[in-house]
Amino acid sequence: MRIAMLTGGGDCPGLNAVMRAVARKGERIHGDQLLGFRDGWRGVLDDDAVALSVQSFRGTLPRGGTILGSSRTNPYKVDGGPDRVRAVLADREVDALVAIGGEDTLGVAARLSEEGVAVVGVPKTIDNDLSATELTFGFNTAVQICVDAIDRLHTTAESHDRVMVVEVMGRHAGHIATWAAIAGGATEVLVPEEPFDIEEVCATIRRRHEGGRYASIVVVAEGSTPREGTMALASGEVDAFGHVRLGGIGDQLAQAIEARTGYETRAIVLGHVQRGGTPTAFDRVLATRFGIAAVDAVHDGDFGKMVALRAGNIVRVPLSEATDELKLVDPSILAVARVFFG
Ligand code: F6P
Repeated sequence: MRIAMLTGGGDCPGLNAVMRAVARKGERIHGDQLLGFRDGWRGVLDDDAVALSVQSFRGTLPRGGTILGSSRTNPYKVDGGPDRVRAVLADREVDALVAIGGEDTLGVAARLSEEGVAVVGVPKTIDNDLSATELTFGFNTAVQICVDAIDRLHTTAESHDRVMVVEVMGRHAGHIATWAAIAGGATEVLVPEEPFDIEEVCATIRRRHEGGRYASIVVVAEGSTPREGTMALASGEVDAFGHVRLGGIGDQLAQAIEARTGYETRAIVLGHVQRGGTPTAFDRVLATRFGIAAVDAVHDGDFGKMVALRAGNIVRVPLSEATDELKLVDPSILAVARVFFG
């Protein structure tokens, strides 16, 4: 078969591991020919592709990012985009497309599949916010990067008796923030799932500081919002999928805490560091299992599916289900974090 791959949306540690697995099983076991479109759907629209083989992925298992490049191009926002996608796939005699991405990339894959394109999806996002899978690869790495940073921030915060506000990614879900806060021993975590009250946040910090020097680490997810608009937030640009560019809550929160408590407060935005560099062993294994499962689905002719992790097993779920619902943080995990507040 001729199998094409693409990686779309924000990059994520483990993308190369997925493609390496597809190439390995496809080429060595099935004798497939492999092709990669550059920069997600942009590469399909522009017919910008490169031949891939097992050789192309030598040395890429520990490498972050994606050797194919990525973009947030949405073919459904381009005039004649979906027809162009179909034409390019037909011209290149592509039998199946493996689309590796998050909500947006898989949303496009789901629509194309309904329109007859032979596509299999692989869930990717550091945000871990896809409801159809228990975990996405990249999440474990992002959390570990945050925890490494928080471990370091503890000692400098203690030395200066400061409050450190650590802003982490996650879009409109607080998975990264909650896991990082629990594993990093944070004083408090703020997530989009529960708008915060700045007075309550300050009360928790004051409680911790009562009776002497005691630094605080407050983890805030980038998509967190204050309750009832009590703090004005700057709004950002919007991308081709209509998502606002998040970020900035950490600085605003730090200023608000310092103004209310009088404690010196600093903001640290971990930003794209969370997405960069080498995947953890866990993510390498998950990504490899997803890649193998995707090529198996292709050879079973089981299109319109996404591979997913459920109860430790890799299963196939309809692509439409993959993007149905945003997976939010389970209140029981937030309750665990809350025990350590203050
Ligand atoms: O979806 C992954 C993610 O890293 C989000 O956590 C974050 O809000 C967004 O992508 C940032 O996107 P960009 O790199 O396009 O600014």
